[in-house]
Amino acid sequence: MRNVLVTGGAGFIGSNFVQYFLGAHADVVLVNFDNLTYAGNLGNLAAIDADSRYRFVKGDICDRTAVDRAMQEHEIDTVVHFAAESHVDRSITGAAVFVTTNVVGTQVLLEAARAQGVERFLHVSTDEVYGSLGATGKFTELTSLHPNSPYAASKASSDLLVLAYHHTFGLPVVVTRCSNNYGPYQFPEKLIPLMIMNALQDKPLPVYGDGLNVRDWLHVVDHCRAINTVLRTGRVGEVYNIGGNNEWKNIDIVRALLKHLGKPESLIAFVKDRLGHDRRYAIDASKIARELGWAPSYTFERGLAETIDWYLANQPWAKKVMTGEYQEYYRKHYHEG
Ligand code: NAD
Ligand code: DAU
Repeated sequence: MRNVLVTGGAGFIGSNFVQYFLGAHADVVLVNFDNLTYAGNLGNLAAIDADSRYRFVKGDICDRTAVDRAMQEHEIDTVVHFAAESHVDRSITGAAVFVTTNVVGTQVLLEAARAQGVERFLHVSTDEVYGSLGATGKFTELTSLHPNSPYAASKASSDLLVLAYHHTFGLPVVVTRCSNNYGPYQFPEKLIPLMIMNALQDKPLPVYGDGLNVRDWLHVVDHCRAINTVLRTGRVGEVYNIGGNNEWKNIDIVRALLKHLGKPESLIAFVKDRLGHDRRYAIDASKIARELGWAPSYTFERGLAETIDWYLANQPWAKKVMTGEYQEYYRKHYHEG
């Protein structure tokens, strides 16, 4: 593991991972391959921009020539694949780009990795591939795939392609499936940063449906630690669930955010539910704990407080990413104005 290609390293989790990984390994070159969609932001990486071990390549994972060039020029031996369209709501109004990036892009990357003869290909996936749970139970790695949104279906398809490249061609892959991440640099279309930014502006906080949908939340740095662990010590061909053992109803998170910010609950606005909204996710992460010794380090109390403080201290960052495209998306999605 000397020359590592990280796809999607300018996004939320990718940029946290790039910073974490360069901090954890002295002797690596890290190439961030990202085409900077609305969700990609090089400003997230300002702190390591001058690090001589870091390179940025602007490119699309669907472009085989560009991917080959990056892999060959930088003698890549390891791939960590984050690049994706990641927002469920956007996949409901425009699924095509999810198929292109998440499915076709992953297949292009797999072919290029095969031609390059990489030592390891880590595919970053999601608990959403398993579908929705009732009031009890948790997803294990053996739970059958039942993706419900176009986003989840595209991620499940990419997981299957990754595993097929291992079975058919012996590509040394590992797959991780993580629950909901939160922390610094998350684009404010997702629940936690959206609610923080709206509350700061005294705007309504749009809670879908009855607000009782449940998600398991993990601090992004714990996710990065888990990916690093699986990359180094995970068994080839295996899937590892990653989760926080930290289930919350959406409405309770929104109330906790308001309390922390000293804002009134009257800002909460129950709005039309997400189509096909998965009711509950919960992850059994005992395999990664048992086999690889990983466990989350953040309590939610600490992680949420730090995240709120980060958004408070970085309002210029947030305002910069909440551009015309964001305003337009927000207006259309939440039927404003
Ligand atoms: P994000 O939307 O914040 O970032 C995605 C990044 O990928 C951006 O930098 C974007 O520019 C880049 N990208 C998109 N299309 C590309 C293309 N065609 N070529 C090159 N780069 C491209 O996403 P995120 O929330 O950081 O998620 C990263 C990965 O982790 C995704 O694969 C997602 O499915 C997975 N995941 C996310 C979560 C979560 O809670 N956010 C949880 C589990 C798994
Ligand atoms: O579980 C992992 C997944 O978590 C990742 O694979 C996805 O990339 C990531 O976006 C996230 O998906 P969710 O749909 O769970 O996250 P989101 O932040 O969009 O929504 C979290 C919950 O909050 C969900 O039940 C919908 C609800 N919600 C969301 C928004 C944006 C609202 O009630 N109001 C909102 O405005």
